[in-house]
Amino acid sequence: MDKSGARVREMFRQIAPRYDAMNHLLSVNIDRLWRRQAVNRLRVRDQNPILDVCTGTGDLALAIKKRHPDVPVVGSDFCFAMLQIAHAKDADRGVDFLEADAQHLPFPDHQFQCVTVAFGLRNVADTDRGLAEMMRVCQPGGQVMVLEFSTPTLPLLKQSYGFYFRHVLPRVGQWFARNDKSAYQYLPESVGQFPSGQALLDRMTAVGLVDTRAKQLTCGVATIYEGSKPA
Ligand SMILES: C[S@@+](CC[C@H](N)C(=O)[O-])C[C@H]1O[C@@H](n2cnc3c(N)ncnc32)[C@H](O)[C@@H]1O
Repeated sequence: MDKSGARVREMFRQIAPRYDAMNHLLSVNIDRLWRRQAVNRLRVRDQNPILDVCTGTGDLALAIKKRHPDVPVVGSDFCFAMLQIAHAKDADRGVDFLEADAQHLPFPDHQFQCVTVAFGLRNVADTDRGLAEMMRVCQPGGQVMVLEFSTPTLPLLKQSYGFYFRHVLPRVGQWFARNDKSAYQYLPESVGQFPSGQALLDRMTAVGLVDTRAKQLTCGVATIYEGSKPA
């Protein structure tokens, strides 16, 4: 499928104004719970900064900042329209939002104690390059975390979720977001093609992360993947 930067950026530019409302509607607000669980699992050890890539409208970056007000938090994304919304939500100006491609992060090596991505890595054209960049800018001993959709394993749930995801969600999404380029058709396709479970852990190991593990959320509808950069 076409995951070129131009296509993905344009798609998110079009849905940006309705992205948050759509997210909460289509996931019946469970996305908020997932991000909270991701924040709970962060290993924040000191006051070194935390980076959230593909931050979009900033929900994870803002949740991290709320939990750790003394820690600098940076949110990066290559879609300016999404970042504008993130910035508008950040009334306290607590998070530094900046425009950057996750495959070419504008940071020196070893900068951040944690590097996170929520529902973003799936959209990055070169998954391994995105993971390698997250690992590069992470401090030795620091944590890399990926929150992403996955496929439930329980047979009945797998079937009903598959139906919802393939047939209901794209229609409701397209109607609500009024998106020409079928962003919500893209969603099930991109999830279907993206490695999940052990396959993604293997990719994380391949870029050099250690102690990798996966925690399924909501019976495997989403998963938190974690790894550490060797100390
Ligand atoms: C589904 S949204 C997720 C936003 C947010 N993290 C959340 O949890 O709601 C995916 C985001 O990834 C961004 N994105 C996709 N590919 C990217 C890349 N190569 N570099 C930077 N951002 C990218 C898009 O612009 C979009 O804002």
